[in-house]
Amino acid sequence: MAALASASDDLVYNPYSFAVHDDPYVTYRRLREEAPAYWNNDLDFWTLSRFDDVLGGFRDFETFSSANGVALEQRGQSNTDFQQMIDLDPPDHTAFRKLVSRVFTGRKVARMEDEIRGIVDGYIDTIIESGECDLVEDITGPFPMDVIASVLGIPEADRYDLRQQADKILLRTDGEIRIPDEAINGMFGLLGYFIDDLPKRKKGIGEGLITDLLELEVEGRKLTDEELLGFCVLFVIAGHETTTKMVANTVELLSRHPDQRAQIVADPTLVTGAVEEVLRFHNSTQYMHRTVTRDLEMHGQNLREGDSVLLLIGAANHDDREFGETAEVFDIHRRPERHLGFGYGAHFCLGAALARLEGKVAVEQIHKRLGDYEVDHDTKKRFHSSNVTGWTSLPLTFSAGSRLGIADESSS
Ligand code: HEM
Repeated sequence: MAALASASDDLVYNPYSFAVHDDPYVTYRRLREEAPAYWNNDLDFWTLSRFDDVLGGFRDFETFSSANGVALEQRGQSNTDFQQMIDLDPPDHTAFRKLVSRVFTGRKVARMEDEIRGIVDGYIDTIIESGECDLVEDITGPFPMDVIASVLGIPEADRYDLRQQADKILLRTDGEIRIPDEAINGMFGLLGYFIDDLPKRKKGIGEGLITDLLELEVEGRKLTDEELLGFCVLFVIAGHETTTKMVANTVELLSRHPDQRAQIVADPTLVTGAVEEVLRFHNSTQYMHRTVTRDLEMHGQNLREGDSVLLLIGAANHDDREFGETAEVFDIHRRPERHLGFGYGAHFCLGAALARLEGKVAVEQIHKRLGDYEVDHDTKKRFHSSNVTGWTSLPLTFSAGSRLGIADESSS
């Protein structure tokens, strides 16, 4: 058991607290300054919040292991139904990563740009004449599932239901580490879909990455059903949820920074930098869980073998030690050498190129076609999860049939 940290008693960080979700950065600031190695005695976990420590945690997989789970609320739960590479350390992880990394290279992903733009435009077409929409429900919620489903080879007819299940999986209750029934049911729904799907694919029905995986080998053998299911679940959750949240986070942030939004509307080449700044400043993934494999001391605290540690990406990305005195300012012109929005090292986000492209295309099209949008900040609804931040509802109004915004040639 870990020693109690010496932070002042009123410094409490509970990642399930809805109040924390409203503004985690106030707490992160205090953690970085007052308790860079912070121990939560109720929920039994450490946090690391300074940039160098979080980077070091991602880099040093031998000390900060993923093998006990990368979600705090699922630590230590062995899963018999499926096995995901995100829960493995090198060298076990390496062969699985190699198997799929060729699919998501920058060059391969770049070829999807037209397809992604078509998907986003299709959703915008359905609402553009009405002058109002719920950005999340109508555009940013559905399109990343279509994109990842297209890569995986999931038929169009199945995508809506699958998304309904996936959207429940990360839901959490205020302050509670316990996974609510709704989320567990969502996981069963998602898993059930693929348990039914794999036998059909083995009979030759189906296409895409899942079907390709049936033929691929790791260490001279085919993948087990548990490993195949692990890939399916990982790709759907990782590929859909974080990207969905990232795009709505971008629109919500820009609506509160009208000068920067106007610059984007005037000059679409700024969109790439804006998306990158959202990944730094308000990332949809706020932290990852690791388990310490040996006793070690950090910032005067004793971390013991077996302790849980949260690597706070959201806190590290606001650290002035790395980003200077404007670290806590949203600035689409910032060009940082690095940030931790996609993690670092062995598990660096496999879909980073795809996520960046999806973000660029969607933010461009939204600002090109709905350029004069207004966000209803009074009725927007926050998504409450453990480590994913975003919106479940973001109501917008705009000029009906609007083409106000970025000039047409921006999409070429
Ligand atoms: C804004 C969007 C995204 C964010 C913020 C994000 C963030 C992350 C982070 C922080 C990790 C590291 C996890 C760890 O170290 O334990 C990760 C891993 C991963 N991400 Fe993403 N991600 C995004 C989009 C995507 C997309 C579109 C895909 C689709 C392929 C994807 C697939 C994965 C996979 C498969 C891993 C595990 C990699 C491994 O274990 O080697 N992500 N992501």
